[in-house]
Amino acid sequence: MQILSICSHKGGTGKTTTAINLSSALGLTGHKTLVIDMDPQGFLTSMLGLPQPQKEGSCIMLFEQGITLHDIKKTKVGSIDVLPSSSMMTSKMRHLNKAIDVFWVKEAIGDGGGYDNIVFDTAAAITVFSLNALVASDHVLIPVTPEYQPVMGAEQTVETVKVVGQKLNPKLGHPKLLLTQVDARRRTHQRYREYLRQKYGKQVLPVEIRTCSSLANSYKGGATVFDIDLNSRGAQDYARLTDSLLPYLAQNKTATMAPEAVAQSAPAPPPEEPDYIIKNLARHTSS
Ligand SMILES: Nc1ncnc2c1ncn2[C@@H]1O[C@H](COP(=O)(O)OP(=O)(O)O)[C@@H](O)[C@H]1O
Ligand SMILES: [Mg+2]
Repeated sequence: MQILSICSHKGGTGKTTTAINLSSALGLTGHKTLVIDMDPQGFLTSMLGLPQPQKEGSCIMLFEQGITLHDIKKTKVGSIDVLPSSSMMTSKMRHLNKAIDVFWVKEAIGDGGGYDNIVFDTAAAITVFSLNALVASDHVLIPVTPEYQPVMGAEQTVETVKVVGQKLNPKLGHPKLLLTQVDARRRTHQRYREYLRQKYGKQVLPVEIRTCSSLANSYKGGATVFDIDLNSRGAQDYARLTDSLLPYLAQNKTATMAPEAVAQSAPAPPPEEPDYIIKNLARHTSS
């Protein structure tokens, strides 16, 4: 069981979109996957077309004494299970003000509740909820659009993850940066992509998520990009991302794999060559 947090201190960089479509690709290819909406604004919950849940079926339960993931009711959406956010999170935050309150989610998840993968979507801020996600995680993915503010936000997030790794969660891997909403024709995008690749090297994943209208519109129908258009750039890019992350998301023994090793062992496949995930997705979505 592997746990992944999707974080950035900057909003609008594709965290929620990545949480939905990466989890969905994992689910469609047979990995039992739970996505947890830890953003009090609940965009993942609403983008998946879910109503505000009762307290019992929401992520607020992870902060209840003596409750484990097994005890909490999840909502099934397509290939994944979802633990939606809750309108009670904002008021709950006021009571989660002790140092020890960053360990609630790690305790509740325990042995992982039978999931292969758990993915956290987080808010664009350091809150007790995003810290709980990081403390419970093995890996961190930082989506970054190659523009000034998202790059600054990503660099701050890298520092935050470093501190959490040093002080609270020694098993947390080095964060990986995922370029999102990339428009290769834009000079600023080219400049910031180069800047990030030079500064962070193999920590920047080889797969990039390009701008894609199917991704921009997916929230309207409460669907994933794989439901909307399997041939779209968004579907192809998220399939490739999932494929490249599988070597260390799928099993425990590779959990500590350095990002360098991941990048070398999982280069982005050439666009004309359908890879493992894409073939599998086609099979699952057509049945
Ligand atoms: N690759 C993409 N191409 C086009 N639009 C995108 C892409 N990724 C995300 N979006 C859109 O950008 C907006 C912000 O994305 P979102 O995932 O909600 O960001 P965050 O969770 O980081 O705030 C949403 O309207 C989403 O549909
Ligand atoms: Mg979001």
